[in-house]
Amino acid sequence: MTTHPQVLAGTPAIGTARSRVEGRDKVSGKARFAGDLPVERLAHGAVVTATIARGRVTGIDTSSALASPGVIGVVDHRNAPRLVPGVGSPFFGPDGQLQLLQDDRVAHGGWPVALVVAETPEQARAGAERLRLTFVEQPHDTAFAADHPAARPALPAFGPDADKGDLDAELAASAVVVDERYTTPAQHACAMEPHVATAWLEGAVLRAIDSNQAPYGIAAQLATLFGRPLSEVRVQVEQVGGGFGSKTGLGPQLILATMATLLFHRPVRVTLTREQVFLATSARPRTDQRVRLGADRDGRLRAIGHEAAFEISGESEFIENCVEIAKTLYAADAIRTRLTAVPLDILPVASVRAPGTAPGSFALESAVDELAERLGVDPLELRRRNEPEVGPVSGLPFTSRNFQRCLSEGARRFGWAGRDHRPRRRREGHLLIGTGMAGTSFLTTAFPSSATITAERDGTFTVAIAAIDIGTGARTALRAIAADALGVGWDAIRLEIGDSAIGPAWQAGGSLGTTSWGWAIVAAARDLLKQLEPGPALPVSVTSDTTEEIMSRPHRERHSYSAVFAEVAVDPATGEVRVRRLVGRFAVGRVVNPLMVRSQLTGGMVMGLSIALQEEGVRDGVSGRQVNADFAGYHFAANADVPFIDADFVDDHEPDDPLGLKGPGEIGAVAVAAAIANAVWHATGRRHRDLPIRLDRVV
Ligand code: MOS
Repeated sequence: MTTHPQVLAGTPAIGTARSRVEGRDKVSGKARFAGDLPVERLAHGAVVTATIARGRVTGIDTSSALASPGVIGVVDHRNAPRLVPGVGSPFFGPDGQLQLLQDDRVAHGGWPVALVVAETPEQARAGAERLRLTFVEQPHDTAFAADHPAARPALPAFGPDADKGDLDAELAASAVVVDERYTTPAQHACAMEPHVATAWLEGAVLRAIDSNQAPYGIAAQLATLFGRPLSEVRVQVEQVGGGFGSKTGLGPQLILATMATLLFHRPVRVTLTREQVFLATSARPRTDQRVRLGADRDGRLRAIGHEAAFEISGESEFIENCVEIAKTLYAADAIRTRLTAVPLDILPVASVRAPGTAPGSFALESAVDELAERLGVDPLELRRRNEPEVGPVSGLPFTSRNFQRCLSEGARRFGWAGRDHRPRRRREGHLLIGTGMAGTSFLTTAFPSSATITAERDGTFTVAIAAIDIGTGARTALRAIAADALGVGWDAIRLEIGDSAIGPAWQAGGSLGTTSWGWAIVAAARDLLKQLEPGPALPVSVTSDTTEEIMSRPHRERHSYSAVFAEVAVDPATGEVRVRRLVGRFAVGRVVNPLMVRSQLTGGMVMGLSIALQEEGVRDGVSGRQVNADFAGYHFAANADVPFIDADFVDDHEPDDPLGLKGPGEIGAVAVAAAIANAVWHATGRRHRDLPIRLDRVV
């Protein structure tokens, strides 16, 4: 590890490589996570989940559990506090999955049916094992297919389907056409820290410490669900050991802990087991995508068709927006996208790192590589020839588009020039060697948030915003942003985050935490500095909200971009694919902290590697349950799987953001799977249109 010089007071903090402020606490075990906090008179709840895939609970015999040492009580649908129905997310509408323990129904395998509360976690688990449950099973349907009879259009929250030009006519007029299907499996967020919440009452106020990505939004949902005013609900977040999307919404741990504290008048902590995190939180849906591309002989695209189907739970809405990049990445005369949702009896599907874009880019960027092959054109060159001048579907101008720069800088670093584009040309002993590349765009924006800054008597500033640090270094980034916005040194900033009581703020999600929170801090700093001009008596405190500024921005195409290059070695005897090198170049706006952003992009590329080769949530059609609900059965890259990764930025600046920022959070995980799949084709001559590229699919 290199060390980085400390920044002197007064020098700009943005752009400085700085280790994260909590780093020492984390590596020395001092950092506090949701499950670490000491709470007086704390009781522990163990969740009991259904063992059937759909049906009803017909009996719950609590006698043995209640007689078990230390057990305080059992919460089930007969005594659980009543919840307000119809609560959900502002994007996706009512969420039936929040209606826990309200009746005897079981909506999917892993559905929570009871909580056993005891003095210690071990006693709660032992009590949970003694609960006698009987079920009546009803037929379940977990079989995903794009042409499933229940298939229907997805919600249009990301805008309408694209329907530019006449796709069929352009395909018919094309010299070369690709028409292929791609599938991706269920994937799980797999945060190291499981979902854990502690809830208690303090007078009239329902308080909670939860591991989540959105304290304000989740407090608001919790308040609505339990029929309380938001002023009487306070959700706090400590250090978070990853979320990757799975902690953006109100989780079962917090609902159940709240119920138990209301019933038993004790602070209650609910920690999901690893298996329960897999079965009872959320996952990325399976997708089935058809991509049609048509081009002239010279490689100019005439047609882009991208139709994606994804599974959802019948209880809650979500949009796995696989087709976004088909609307923005390349120019074409006709562009048609369709998004289809297939409701099944499965756990909720929700955000998992780069929702939509990760599986969508695998399909589109694999198809572009197939088109290059059929045209006999360098796949990099094909992407150069189809650079749009304005939004290909919207016709709107781009704010800053540096896709070509990512391509050329990545190619230079990787050594792409001179590649023999024919497959199966390189060997090392018995290994087949191949290279491949892919790119992406990624929507970027900022969401309204509020921040409060106080000029203290001693010359320091307290900056409060209901942000959280999911492990990406938000604390460090926001402190740098505040220092620069106030024109003071790093040491003059005291940052307070992770508390819904601070006020409305966007979540650590959508790659939009830093843009959203940073803007609010800039706005509050500007307003505060104005108030300080006359030299008032301190302390002076200012709260600013960015809703108006953000909403009044011009309509333009705002995206991050990347280009990813991969080299693989394939053992044709075993089917083993080893990734040898990954190079990523990213246009992610101005970089607040190059050390942390490079680290996040590198981590994202490791996740992309996992998507390509390993991740696969396997559901058993007969039981309707997930087979591999743990870290032994659900594979992702370990250190030995990770090759040399070179992730770096190209010069970029977002003009519609006060700091020039775009979101670098998730884009690292995108385009990697296609780059690797294209490299495997280059090595072996065989296309892989179904992820992951398992050994048995390679041999
Ligand atoms: Mo992210 S998958 O938007 O937390």
